Amino acid sequence: MKQFPKNFLWGGATSAMQIEGGYPGRGLNFNDVNTAGTKNAPRMTTVRYADGTVGRYPMFSQDLPEGAKMVLLDGEYYPNLSAADFVHHYREDIAMLAEMGFKVFRMSIMWSRLFPRGDEELPDPEGIAFYHNVFAELRKYNIEPLVTIWHSEDPVYLINEAGGWNSRRMIDYFDHYAETVLREYRNEVRYWLTFNELNNSVMFLDWIQGTAGRRERAQKTFQQLHHKLLASAHTVKKAHEINPENKVGCMIAYAVNYPLTCSPADNMKQTETSQWLNWYTADTQVRGKYPHFAGKILKREGVTLKTEEHDFKELEEGRVDFFSFSYYSSSCCTVQTEYETSGGNFTMGAKNPYLQYSEWGWAMDPAGLRYALNEIYGRYQIPVIIVENGLGAVDRIEEDGSIHDEYRIEYLREHIKAAKEAIEDGVDLFGYCSWGCIDEISAASGQMNKRYGFIYVDLDDEGKGTLERRRKDSFDWYRRVIASNGECL
Ligand code: BG6
Repeated sequence: MKQFPKNFLWGGATSAMQIEGGYPGRGLNFNDVNTAGTKNAPRMTTVRYADGTVGRYPMFSQDLPEGAKMVLLDGEYYPNLSAADFVHHYREDIAMLAEMGFKVFRMSIMWSRLFPRGDEELPDPEGIAFYHNVFAELRKYNIEPLVTIWHSEDPVYLINEAGGWNSRRMIDYFDHYAETVLREYRNEVRYWLTFNELNNSVMFLDWIQGTAGRRERAQKTFQQLHHKLLASAHTVKKAHEINPENKVGCMIAYAVNYPLTCSPADNMKQTETSQWLNWYTADTQVRGKYPHFAGKILKREGVTLKTEEHDFKELEEGRVDFFSFSYYSSSCCTVQTEYETSGGNFTMGAKNPYLQYSEWGWAMDPAGLRYALNEIYGRYQIPVIIVENGLGAVDRIEEDGSIHDEYRIEYLREHIKAAKEAIEDGVDLFGYCSWGCIDEISAASGQMNKRYGFIYVDLDDEGKGTLERRRKDSFDWYRRVIASNGECL
């Protein structure tokens, strides 16, 4: 039986917007202006209209009327402003990751910490110093940083004043930010990801019902995506110029969709769903050009993409070195119009009768991970790393302070086994990062109590708590997994 490769990168992942906090002291980013949601109620973006009145819109809805600005409103709780307070706890947190034997730590840089408005010429020295300190701390324990340059952390100022990614100007602002990061940290970071889950805005189209029509939202979504694909390609090219040893990956929210029945129509539906949700974005980043079915998708959605001639050469010049993705759950698709629906990480589909579902309605499907790895590697034949996988659950602290998260261990164990099977299948998998290794704010629901970590953070859904860190049972389990290079599961 094949084993995990000797230098396999075992670790965990976080994002700046979900873990750092530290506001004020930095600029606002998009997540900061969103309220906390619940399992059933979405997070809301708070806005001020041109006439001075205020309102709330479902997060990611692409729906704000002309002239509305994203703002913080008095009396609301905004969980990302203080998050898990990593800015003040990073030394302690990294020491705990080292105790588990982490080889890699995935983190993101917050654009608005370096450039509070997003369009400044020079970065904020304190922001710059913060990440030098974090990298130094990681180096102390021989933990490799894997840095996401953008994890949905658009500065609010740029959204309000420059139109965000609707505008081509955003590419220039991003290029400047990314180049600053690549130059500043060129001696500290080797592994980079450009945009987190670049395909997820396409998923939001089905997931979030806005008041604007589908066609209008699709037009915005695909135009923005084109701009981000270009910014991503520029970043890859720049990273290679700045240091030829840099390795840059794409990051896709990989949607596993099984046909609900064995009817040929459901099977074709599955192919089309995967083209739409996964390959449209991934092919462009890996192959450097839009796939053959892109035109069909844009036509169906009624989208006219505004492009410039040089765009296509730039996409080609910015092909990524490796593939990274998140995987939490799978779903089913069908041409039938009536079926029981399930939840999932931005992909809602038909419920799979063969699977168990988490408290948040996400299917738990380790075999789907092996399937995803084979699909991805079979298509591209470039090294692959899993950069997000995990179970969001409510943890209970026992009277003696312990936290018995057997459910999380079970979930991770089965997924790591599936990853090992994929290696046996021949997939070139070089690392595994569990998501939210330190408890942080849930991206979609804004809750703190949807926890993924090995490290418990004492903070509740209203922002109350001491922020004290505790080891869950999974902490010791993962330490043994890493120490045995995945043999002791
Ligand atoms: C991914 C994101 O979509 O899923 C993370 O990259 C996110 O930022 C993770 O936290 C899990 O989703 P959630 O909503 O449970 O936090």
